[in-house]
Amino acid sequence: GRLASAVTVADLRAAARRRLPRMVFDFVDGGAEDELTLTENEAAFDRVSFRPRVLVDVSERPQHVTVLGRRLELPVILGPTGLMRMVDHEGERASAAAAHAFGTVSVTSSGSSVSIEDVAASVASPQWFQLYPWGDRGTVENIIGRARDSGFEAMVVTVDVPVVGAREKDLRNGLTVPPQVNPRTGWDLLRHPGWLAGLLTHPRPTFANFTGLMTEAKGTTGLAVYTNGLLNPAHTWRDLEWMVERWGGPVVLKGVMTGEDAKRAVDVGCRAVAVSNHGGRQGDSVPAALDVLPEVVDAVPADVDVLLDGGVRRGGDVVKALALGARACLLGRPWVYGLAAGGTAGVERMLAILRDEIDRTLALIGRPGVATLDCSAVGPWPRAVA
Ligand code: FNR
Repeated sequence: GRLASAVTVADLRAAARRRLPRMVFDFVDGGAEDELTLTENEAAFDRVSFRPRVLVDVSERPQHVTVLGRRLELPVILGPTGLMRMVDHEGERASAAAAHAFGTVSVTSSGSSVSIEDVAASVASPQWFQLYPWGDRGTVENIIGRARDSGFEAMVVTVDVPVVGAREKDLRNGLTVPPQVNPRTGWDLLRHPGWLAGLLTHPRPTFANFTGLMTEAKGTTGLAVYTNGLLNPAHTWRDLEWMVERWGGPVVLKGVMTGEDAKRAVDVGCRAVAVSNHGGRQGDSVPAALDVLPEVVDAVPADVDVLLDGGVRRGGDVVKALALGARACLLGRPWVYGLAAGGTAGVERMLAILRDEIDRTLALIGRPGVATLDCSAVGPWPRAVA
């Protein structure tokens, strides 16, 4: 079937493209404006080469890492992505289930289309919660309280969305909340009967429960207009410090792209930072996450976990990020492609592919486990001198 023949993340992407209406696929796959940052995120990995060592005993290649004091069986975390019931009826439960099955963790988005209580209750291991600091302190305090009461173990605060980036494909496709059917979008939906059948045979989300946390949209609005209405671009470091204090547990600051901001995050009590440009969905012409990773790693003390996301599509990409100082990678689109291709099983397929690729890469570069990676494992592509 669809999954058995998927050998790479690119294959899962192709399967997702076939299954999803154009409007939904573009929402997942697209980036902001000219998609320069989206393209760079992936290209940056291709600019790094390995320095393979030989005759090293690589018969054992453990992949486990410790992030925020928790052992993860592989150096990969399923990142927060909202509105996932648009992709498949299992929605955000699928990433929690797959992460649990592989001994890692998923981050449940503030924009989750399954209530955060239901995601937390659906798996035996504690997951992480991602906070968008929407609205005023009262609203934020209420969301933080719900996340704490649901048993989430860590909070990821995403700070690269003061306003929504210009995802121009969504505007062109007329992506609205609630999704609106007109002749053009109707045709798009009808041409994807598998997806449509999934939607019609499962309880349909109204917008009130489409996201457990967002408020009901008034009438039909574009997704960006709607989301901008929730956001509060006035938040500063002082508000972050207050959120860290309200939460009480470990906090990851997501969306850090400079050494200065990474330092500041540590100063206000964050235990980890996620180097991220939101998968190229926010500011365009922001550099690739991988390219600023060394700057961030250099800026923070060694006991601060540096995570990275953006453009990870191969196990080899994870190995490169770890060699350059990341503790683990977050994945956005790769797990969503898996979800589209086959629900929880598709997300698990994606994780199996990456685990396998990481394992083989370690053997081929002479590194017996992810703990042995350092910057001597990678370099630029050597060029012949004329
Ligand atoms: C996201 N991302 C995101 N981030 C976040 O903090 N909260 C969210 O609700 C979302 N929602 C979301 C939806 C979709 C469809 C995508 C693709 C992404 C960003 C995400 O967590 C991550 O930073 C990027 O996706 C990483 O880049 P890759 O792995 O997609 O290249």
